[in-house]
Amino acid sequence: MQDPDLLSEAEAVRLHAYAPYSNFPVGAALLAEDGSLHHGCNVENASYPAGLCAERVALGAAVARGARRFIAIAIAGPPGVAISPCGICRQVLSEFSPDGTLRVIARDAAGTPRATTIVELLPGAFGPAQLGHS
Ligand code: THU
Repeated sequence: MQDPDLLSEAEAVRLHAYAPYSNFPVGAALLAEDGSLHHGCNVENASYPAGLCAERVALGAAVARGARRFIAIAIAGPPGVAISPCGICRQVLSEFSPDGTLRVIARDAAGTPRATTIVELLPGAFGPAQLGHS
């Protein structure tokens, strides 16, 4: 699947975001190595810290369906705003990309798709290997 198609998936699920507090709806589409696609949107809460980012919702949905190896995640926020995963989501995504090659795709402020990798977003991550898991 090409980056623009994955971004379209993220943009579509963004419409389901529950973001009444921030008014910043986000969608995420996560492509697994087996070709399966998993979606998430942010789900906020009146108890603000209980809110979930789109990326972690997508990852949880994927793991619940048995996927653990991923190629790319596309993230879509409001048009005109460059979006990038928060620190917690970088850590959580990094857990499932021990080699750091997970591609992270999002549009910049001009709407141009940009791709980076999780290791570029979170170099030197603490991960499973440090706990003896590989
Ligand atoms: N948010 C995401 O879901 N993903 C991101 O990459 C950035 C931020 C959410 C969290 C919160 O619900 C809202 O956007 C504003 O921060």
